[in-house]
Amino acid sequence: MENRELPMQDAPSTLAGFTKIYAETNPPWDIGKPQPPFIAVADQIVSPVLDAGCGTGGTSLFFAARGAEVTGVDFVEDAIRSARAKADERGLNVEFLVKDAMTLGEWDRRFASVIDSGLFHIYAGDERRRYVQGLAHVLEPGGRLFLYSFNDDASWPGGGVSRQQLYDAFSDGWEFESLELAGGEVNPAFEAEFPGKFADMKMWFAIIRRKE
Ligand SMILES: C[S@@+](CC[C@H](N)C(=O)[O-])C[C@H]1O[C@@H](n2cnc3c(N)ncnc32)[C@H](O)[C@@H]1O
Repeated sequence: MENRELPMQDAPSTLAGFTKIYAETNPPWDIGKPQPPFIAVADQIVSPVLDAGCGTGGTSLFFAARGAEVTGVDFVEDAIRSARAKADERGLNVEFLVKDAMTLGEWDRRFASVIDSGLFHIYAGDERRRYVQGLAHVLEPGGRLFLYSFNDDASWPGGGVSRQQLYDAFSDGWEFESLELAGGEVNPAFEAEFPGKFADMKMWFAIIRRKE
């Protein structure tokens, strides 16, 4: 068991890589509800809401159940199919779209809040710049990004994200309202397979406002 390869390890930021993870594993992030920091600030997450990289929709559905108008996008078709099925089962009206987050900059939609629970940290370099430009495009002026990202612990896939890298990525036209370390939860099925792998994990949780 100890030699088994972790599905997260070297997971490529490609459609094929994530499609395989959803098809063949219990993704560690797939907990069926928002990570705790989103719940703590739920009152601040106002409609319309975009959940970027929504996975199987646990976070989107939580906010829809509170009455928010939510759109969830992910580029993995299977994940969106699961999210739509959950919405149907619960009688919740959520728009789930198969969409590449790299195309946000070409989208004619605007949101007051964007949730990013584990997407930003996948990107580096040009992809990161392009994604952040896309976020600025879809957020209304004065709107807020709620960002949950790997911290700079080097053991995270890709080496994590430092505080300075976050400030640099959002240096132009953005204002940090808060940036703190926060805990998180792991999918119990993943935890059963890989006990303790993400025990006591810490992530960044930031609230970042798009300037007027
Ligand atoms: C770490 S998972 C988090 C999923 C979800 N936010 C959650 O908390 O359960 C990252 C998600 O981003 C999606 N993703 C990665 N790159 C993407 C892209 N370019 N466009 C859309 N979704 C993407 C993956 O398919 C995956 O569902």
